[in-house]
Amino acid sequence: MNTRLHYLTTFPGILDAYFNYSLPGKAVSKGLISYQTVNLRDYTQDAHRTTDDTPFGGGPGMVMKLDPIVQALQDCRQPNSLVILPTPKGTLLTQEVVHHISSYEHLIFICGHYEGVDDRVFQYVDMPLSIGDYVLGGGEISSIVITDAVIRFVKGVLGNQESTQIESFEDKQRLEHPNFTRPATYNEMGIPDVLLSGHHQKIEEWRKLESLRWTLLLKPELIQPDSLSKNDLQRLRTIKASLNRTIDSLLNNYE
Ligand code: ADE
Repeated sequence: MNTRLHYLTTFPGILDAYFNYSLPGKAVSKGLISYQTVNLRDYTQDAHRTTDDTPFGGGPGMVMKLDPIVQALQDCRQPNSLVILPTPKGTLLTQEVVHHISSYEHLIFICGHYEGVDDRVFQYVDMPLSIGDYVLGGGEISSIVITDAVIRFVKGVLGNQESTQIESFEDKQRLEHPNFTRPATYNEMGIPDVLLSGHHQKIEEWRKLESLRWTLLLKPELIQPDSLSKNDLQRLRTIKASLNRTIDSLLNNYE
């Protein structure tokens, strides 16, 4: 299935730049995804091609007008489309939400600017999405963030090995184990010996242990108790013992 992406925007060049490089660039040239920018200025009626106006009630900044967006949507929306509005008022984007969105064949992003979009836009939106509790200048960047997470799920975009990794992250919500590349020693910093051992089983076990360790230390809320296998319980004991040793040796300095 080829995933189709539409972006309603006043800055199509931002999206063009993104789709020119790396993974998205390859996905487009292989025909796995297709994208189209819709310039909202093409849906204006006045000589200046105005897409924004001052807010009713006064105040600073400009507000994006509704009509160009509604007209553009009328041209590109289909029964299987999901219309996304990136906005700080939206649901927080998580990997689960990304997975859900990636099941749609056609995504339409409305890229707002200035102080936001005329709030009646919500009547035309299926999913308002926030990428975090901060405010960006425009919706193009947040649309790219959402797109970048979504296209990794499109079949063929990643190699086989990486796709399997996504699946395991999906069922187990774990942070990835640390990765290193050449040189093995840099500014006197080494890497774990096991990674140089060539012993695939040991490397695999080290990665599972480290993935659990870093999730536990940085994002413990991701670990669901019922997601822990028997091997994970053993790994937890190993992690606990090593933390205990570190804490004991620190305490020893003061006791
Ligand atoms: N546009 C501006 N700020 C945003 C945010 N935090 N998330 C999504 N879209 C935005």
